[in-house]
Amino acid sequence: LPVTVFKTPKEASLNVANRIANIIKEKQKNNLPAVLGLATGATPIAVYAELVRLHKEEGLSFKNVITFNLDEYYPMQPNAAQSYVTFMNENLFDHIDIEKKNVHIPDGTLKLEEIPAFCLDYERKIGELGGLDIQILGIGRTGHIGFNEPGSAPNSGTRLVTLDDLTRRDAARDFGGKSFVPTKAITMGIGTIFKAREIVLMAWNKKKAPIIKKAVEGEMSSDVPATYLQLSDNVEFILDEDAACLLT
Ligand code: F6R
Repeated sequence: LPVTVFKTPKEASLNVANRIANIIKEKQKNNLPAVLGLATGATPIAVYAELVRLHKEEGLSFKNVITFNLDEYYPMQPNAAQSYVTFMNENLFDHIDIEKKNVHIPDGTLKLEEIPAFCLDYERKIGELGGLDIQILGIGRTGHIGFNEPGSAPNSGTRLVTLDDLTRRDAARDFGGKSFVPTKAITMGIGTIFKAREIVLMAWNKKKAPIIKKAVEGEMSSDVPATYLQLSDNVEFILDEDAACLLT
């Protein structure tokens, strides 16, 4: 499993932002859309900040960019402070020239019975565009990618899932207490992620070191969904020294 270690999260984030920018520019040359799979959470914030800088200071345009976010809490109103819609607007979309019609984030306002059709449609849209050119990922301390918690199947698609207790505890700060964290989410599946032409998993911080060790060196198992990435030929782990500190 290819692992690249950078001294700091900042250097690592610049590397990932440049990769994304290169994909966008390459596609622009050929008049094609760039289809990006995006993540939320603390990990990719500096990547998005650099993309915003590249837009404002270096003229990088997002007019040809189509995005699909990994996940959203369920239920969740898009204008809520904790929604991934709000996160993406504040950290990226409000500061670049992407067309709002090209932004896709799972809809936390659906009725339960509407979710299966929405999820199939999410997969269909990605497929019709020729698939994701790149999917960026963080990793949860449960080993989740997207919100594919332990027990997720390697061929899973976009669906409604139940969040692990540890995931809800880790989100408690954002919600002012674990009891306010939704118990469910809509997430792309492991199978959805796998179809991306390039997968970049990022992790910083000593807190992530134990799960990174399991993901990279542990036996493949649904107990740690990120271990399924060991099966992919197109994945790279981008780590800072702290997240990599337990790797042998
Ligand atoms: C977010 C997502 C999650 C996070 C993971 C790490 O869209 O799908 O898998 O990437 O929970 O979160 P942070 O980056 O906050 O440590």
